[in-house]
Amino acid sequence: TMKLAVLTSGGDSAGMNAVVRAVVKAGILKGCETYIVREGYEGLVRGNADDARAEKVHAPSYKEVHITDTTFAHNLRFGDGDLLRDGTSDHPQPGQRTLKGRYIVRVGWDDVRGWFAQGGTLIGTARSAAFRTHEGRLAAAYNLIKEGIDAIAVCGGDGSLTGADVFRAEWPSLVTELKEQGTITEFQAEAYAHLKIVGLVGSIDNDMSLTDLTIGAPTALQRICEAMDNIDSTAFSHSRAFVLEVMGRHCGWLALMAGVSGGADFILLPERPPEEDNWEDSMCKMIHGHREMGKRKTIVIVAEGAHDKNLNPIHAEHVREVLTERLGLDTRVTTLGHTQRGGRPVAWDRILPTLQGVEAVDALLESTPTTPSYMIGVRENKITRVPLMEAVKMTHAVTEAIKEKDFVKAMSLRDPEFCE
Ligand code: F6P
Repeated sequence: TMKLAVLTSGGDSAGMNAVVRAVVKAGILKGCETYIVREGYEGLVRGNADDARAEKVHAPSYKEVHITDTTFAHNLRFGDGDLLRDGTSDHPQPGQRTLKGRYIVRVGWDDVRGWFAQGGTLIGTARSAAFRTHEGRLAAAYNLIKEGIDAIAVCGGDGSLTGADVFRAEWPSLVTELKEQGTITEFQAEAYAHLKIVGLVGSIDNDMSLTDLTIGAPTALQRICEAMDNIDSTAFSHSRAFVLEVMGRHCGWLALMAGVSGGADFILLPERPPEEDNWEDSMCKMIHGHREMGKRKTIVIVAEGAHDKNLNPIHAEHVREVLTERLGLDTRVTTLGHTQRGGRPVAWDRILPTLQGVEAVDALLESTPTTPSYMIGVRENKITRVPLMEAVKMTHAVTEAIKEKDFVKAMSLRDPEFCE
């Protein structure tokens, strides 16, 4: 029986719960024992507190990540999975509904029922400093072996997936180290020689190469569209201009797609900054033209990572000043912030994680010491597997190209077909 754990890591995104649900249910259907790891990699490092050694190793990270250790069990329908055992019991014992000090938890079918409709990630996420250290990963390896787990599905962005690959590459030496310490037996070292890892991309930014869509991006885009509709009516009433700042870190996908779906007058993206030095002039010319044609409202979308061609950041406030001073427009700034990340997943952020979750379990079941760690993607409407590190490397190459001001390269690495 493969013992399979799923965790969510990095910034949350809509659809992460659907990933957990799909991996757990597909895992059970395929004969696996299924676990969730709470609070991302931090949970792997902390493990289950009944172990004195684990407590000792984990101690440094407690200060860095603040986790309120309470209510996860309330989100479970029938109590936690240790009681549930694959849906066979729906009668948790009183006093057993706390997960305090337990980060790796057995879950069953009913634990994840209906999770496709919930926003954020119910199992928690964290940016774990401890997992970036050798000591932290050693504790994580120990905790997994202790629970008998040898397969992990990680849902997160490029940083989280890189962490997964580092962990897998290091795994054999971690196992040897634990064996030499006498923390695990020789038998365990042999039984857990190979760690199976698979990545699913959870990111609202749609910033991963070699896949068309990341989990959470469609919902974030929907949030922006709804906000644009709301702004549209008030902007129209007053004949105002609005500068809308949207998320996306280094990636302009949300800004660009929102501009297309909500009808923006001008869009500022990190991958393709305006070509002119005096881009403010051309922006004003275009907006003035739109006004001349009779438009009563103006919307400029600024990606949070937008800059000019010399990489000087372009802030929404600057755009507001330009529109006010040069065009005399009554201009307001709206920063959508984390409203883009929260809330109920749209249909596509349920479908994609469900199909990808099933594929992830298959990839784990088929994993051998010689197969690479895969990232589950989607290309032209088909669920795909690509070597995780290839996708991560290409994604980092985009950021590098931006830093080198090679914007043509950035766009082509981001999405060769879209670029054409
Ligand atoms: O990667 C997702 C994202 O929402 C980015 O768009 C944004 O730059 C960043 O995370 C914000 O991170 P946080 O507020 O979680 O620190």
